[in-house]
Amino acid sequence: MKIIVCKNHEEVSLKASELVINQLKSKANSVLGLATGSTPIRLYELLVDAYQKKEISFKDVVSFNLDEYIGIDRLHPQSYYQFMQRNLFGLVDIKKENIHIPNNEVKNNEEIAKLYIEELSKQQIDLQILGLGTNGHIGFNEPGTPFGNQAFVVELNEQTRKDNMRFFDSLEEVPKHAVTMGIKDIMQSKQIILMASGAEKAEAVYKMIRGEVCKKLPASVLQLHPNVVVIIDELAASKL
Ligand code: F6R
Repeated sequence: MKIIVCKNHEEVSLKASELVINQLKSKANSVLGLATGSTPIRLYELLVDAYQKKEISFKDVVSFNLDEYIGIDRLHPQSYYQFMQRNLFGLVDIKKENIHIPNNEVKNNEEIAKLYIEELSKQQIDLQILGLGTNGHIGFNEPGTPFGNQAFVVELNEQTRKDNMRFFDSLEEVPKHAVTMGIKDIMQSKQIILMASGAEKAEAVYKMIRGEVCKKLPASVLQLHPNVVVIIDELAASKL
């Protein structure tokens, strides 16, 4: 694990954007694994800037998102489908057919996961972007998730729903289920960049890096991956 401690979230985003830009410059048809949430928003802005300056193109990029809520449709403003349209896909030249986000409009939950496993099996992710839950989750692999899981439907835990309440009007509106890439899918990526900022992530960052590898802290599995770059700000690094 390579650990880069930056002054603040802006520097975290800049550092991550450099790595993604280099990836796209060296392989125009890269397969990117993408996250939603607050953490990568600035990164996506910087990638859009680089696209507008013609430094990079998404014309041949293939993307796989980590996860999607179940129980709200794709048109809901808080669906991850809409998040990606607003923050990245709607602003660059990525082809619609190259975008993969679990399809929460399929009626049967098991079918949503099965279809995503099939899509994931066709390509290997070159570079996976991850955020970190305050409880140590990656994607929506909540504490206790077996490391061998492929994409599956998860019941979101109370902490995660509370953390995500800020995007909704009330806790009741936060979906109770999501479909997520499994830890096995994430670990198959060639390279992983995990970004985290803020004091509320410090405990999870500490356990991810210094703790034992165990299901209680899903992100600790990253210690077993050969090519992980952890980019964190000083607050997130404060317990190291
Ligand atoms: C989002 C995702 C989640 C978030 C995590 C951190 O696609 O998979 O694991 O990365 O919950 O969220 P933020 O960035 O909002 O603190």
